[in-house]
Amino acid sequence: MEKIAPALLDWFYRNRRSLPFRDDPTPYHIWVSEIMLQQTRVAAALPYYERFIRELPDIPALAACPPERLDKLWEGLGYYRRVHSMQKAAQQVCRQYGGHLPASYDALLALPGIGPYTAGAIASIGFGLAAPAVDGNVLRVFARLYNDSGPITDPAVKKRFTQRVMEHQPPDAPGDYNQALMELGALVCLPGGAPLCAQCPLAALCEGRKAGAAEALPCKAAPKPRRVLPVTVALVQNAATGEWLLQKRPEGGLLAGLWQPPAFEGLQLDGPAVRQALAALGLDPGSGEPAPLPAAKHIFTHVEWRMSGWKLTVPDQPAPSGCVWAGRDGLEGRYALPGAFKAYRKFLLEA
Ligand code: ADE
Repeated sequence: MEKIAPALLDWFYRNRRSLPFRDDPTPYHIWVSEIMLQQTRVAAALPYYERFIRELPDIPALAACPPERLDKLWEGLGYYRRVHSMQKAAQQVCRQYGGHLPASYDALLALPGIGPYTAGAIASIGFGLAAPAVDGNVLRVFARLYNDSGPITDPAVKKRFTQRVMEHQPPDAPGDYNQALMELGALVCLPGGAPLCAQCPLAALCEGRKAGAAEALPCKAAPKPRRVLPVTVALVQNAATGEWLLQKRPEGGLLAGLWQPPAFEGLQLDGPAVRQALAALGLDPGSGEPAPLPAAKHIFTHVEWRMSGWKLTVPDQPAPSGCVWAGRDGLEGRYALPGAFKAYRKFLLEA
């Protein structure tokens, strides 16, 4: 087992992908990339990463970014809370550390939105400190390497795996070692079926492979079932201007502070009820009947939205409190429309 680190690093230096945050691994770059990569594959995240760093090149720029612009830079990545937390942390870093991330695992962990994985990635890759950075990739590699069928969702199991990860970490290359494990999980020790053992530098050392169990690992406890929530979405167009009504979501909770077409959560409304619900928002729904749009669904981490959509044209009027009228420019350039409304976005952009 003492051969693990040298074999892994040798493989990494010959096979690693060239990535912008790898080629210029400042702590800030590592932070942004790791937050993006928690929810998105490397190839899909790269254009977002490049644009984000171009526009917000350092922590003071992130701290000062107008929230609406920040949401727009994140539009398409989802899980907006992560970028909101990142901005809160950036503001704290400006107040507390002069705009530079602290070179300490514990100090990083104390910042908003930075958990053990992200703190470990920044500490090891960005600062060269000895720290674990154990994500799903690394858990999978170690479950197979040790043929350990403990459920990786169990904190005690994760702790055991993390100890093993640290037993092999070379003190002179903690960042490369952590990235090599992630990279091996992403490129070779694949999830969901057949790992590419023929290409694996650790194949000869892998207990899971020896036992014929690699494919079946890691073991996960059954996930909690998601709550299903009906949602009625109303696309409301201004008869005079052609603009659409957008409503700002509350500052706390799911999709905090983002803009959306008026949406009634927990309710499956028919046409007349949609008119009533809009009137209750303070809108004059006019005399037209809402037209039905296709149903859609969106899966969040803990809840699934089953959406029914309606389209309605209303007389020209000021937007009710908490709402704005938005034309194509606003929809494309200013307001971040959450991915949950993807099925309805095209209707807003077609007219
Ligand atoms: N996935 C998340 N972070 C990564 C990294 N630093 N290298 C490769 N894959 C990753």
